[in-house]
Amino acid sequence: MDNKVMIVPSASRLTESLRDIGYDIPTSIADLVDNSIEAKATEIWIDVEYIGIHSYISISDNGVGMSANEIDEALRYGSNSNYNEKSLGKFGLGLKTASLSHCKKITIASKNQYEEINTLCWDLDHINKSDKWEALKLSENEFNEIILERLNSNNGTVVVWENLDRILYKDEDSILTQREFAGICRQIEEHIGMVFHRFISGTNVPKVNIYINGNLIQAWDPFVVDEPCTKAIDTSILKFKDSSNSEINVKVRPYILPHESQFSSKQAHAKAAGPKKWNRQQGLYIYRNNRLIQSGGWNRLRAADEHTKLARLAIDFDSRADNAFQINISKMKVKIPNVIRGELLEIAKKVSAKANEVYRNKGDSKRPPQKAKLPPKKHPRKEPGLEIKTKPKKNSSTQILHSNKDLDNTIIKILDIIKQELSEEEYLLNKILSRLSNIDEIKKLQERGKNNE
Ligand SMILES: Nc1ncnc2c1ncn2[C@@H]1O[C@H](COP(=O)(O)OP(=O)(O)O)[C@@H](O)[C@H]1O
Ligand SMILES: [Mg+2]
Repeated sequence: MDNKVMIVPSASRLTESLRDIGYDIPTSIADLVDNSIEAKATEIWIDVEYIGIHSYISISDNGVGMSANEIDEALRYGSNSNYNEKSLGKFGLGLKTASLSHCKKITIASKNQYEEINTLCWDLDHINKSDKWEALKLSENEFNEIILERLNSNNGTVVVWENLDRILYKDEDSILTQREFAGICRQIEEHIGMVFHRFISGTNVPKVNIYINGNLIQAWDPFVVDEPCTKAIDTSILKFKDSSNSEINVKVRPYILPHESQFSSKQAHAKAAGPKKWNRQQGLYIYRNNRLIQSGGWNRLRAADEHTKLARLAIDFDSRADNAFQINISKMKVKIPNVIRGELLEIAKKVSAKANEVYRNKGDSKRPPQKAKLPPKKHPRKEPGLEIKTKPKKNSSTQILHSNKDLDNTIIKILDIIKQELSEEEYLLNKILSRLSNIDEIKKLQERGKNNE
């Protein structure tokens, strides 16, 4: 008698439950970027397109691409892959769970050196109706425009998220505005610039260019190694044996960031603060195969403290240490293995004491090399005018400065910064400038600027 019973999971119930394992949008995008890097891409494009309820997000790369069979496997929950100790993938789930946490339809289109474009798609509406693990093939006239655009001239893969039910819908009746949608872009940019900073700058790994809506994402280096006053402290290698008796090496490299007064510029200091700002960015930066998993925090080794905010430590491990670090599916969390907590605590204490010294004594007496002082300018610096433009017009600027009043200059500088920072966000920029022009002083400056043109 056959004593085995096959129990097949319910496709609709399982796919629906796996939408809630805790992925946020930037983390999900990072999971797809992992796949592109793994596929040897050197260019990765993230496109966040607002078209009301037809909005979509796509991640495209110029990697090796996939055959039709490989796409089938890639869409399988728990797909098989040949992982090695340098692989960024692990569970065979990221592509599906990360994507479907935010949308109901995910399409993969891919082209490798042997085959033309192949596509396949998971559509949760279809799975809910059929309760079957049925993926859908698309005909060319059903392709999202971005697929042909990206795969027209090169091999690679495009992943498209459509029907963005978890992103777009505020409630049953209203969807996000374009401005709110643009906010998501900024979060993605910040997160990707941080998580993949070594890949973006080509430090230890082949360089990768990552673009968001056509703009190259800049690396955010937590240790500001380019700042002359950053202090790198000697690397320690912590060795231990894991539960299967294999030797694991973990590299720890502490850095003391410069005191505010020793940064090369105010902007560099502000940028180094990071997404969570100085106090919450102190502590451990944990990398798995050069990809950042944790950015700051002390993992209960010590408490975050204003006086130690300049201490940041890089901790590196490869995927042989995955079990010891208990990496989770969304690659958002790791646990420091107990066997190295003692040694790490000693390092953290020493580094924190040094960081405290730099904080209190404002670094040592040496200042970073200053630029040669120029003689005072006879004419005020050229500033862009107050007109609303995405790209400031050359020479439209000088005229409104002749007032020589400090306040006017300050207002103009503030407006200048707003315009530079929001140059890609025309809608938001116009809205802010139009609200500001209700303030009398600004209105006067604006009018003066126009008259002088
Ligand atoms: N952009 C891509 N280019 C080539 N292959 C990919 C790409 N994205 C996913 N794949 C394939 O799909 C598989 C499944 O991806 P995923 O679900 O993220 O799991 P994991 O990365 O843990 O293997 C990958 O192992 C890889 O073989
Ligand atoms: Mg993956």
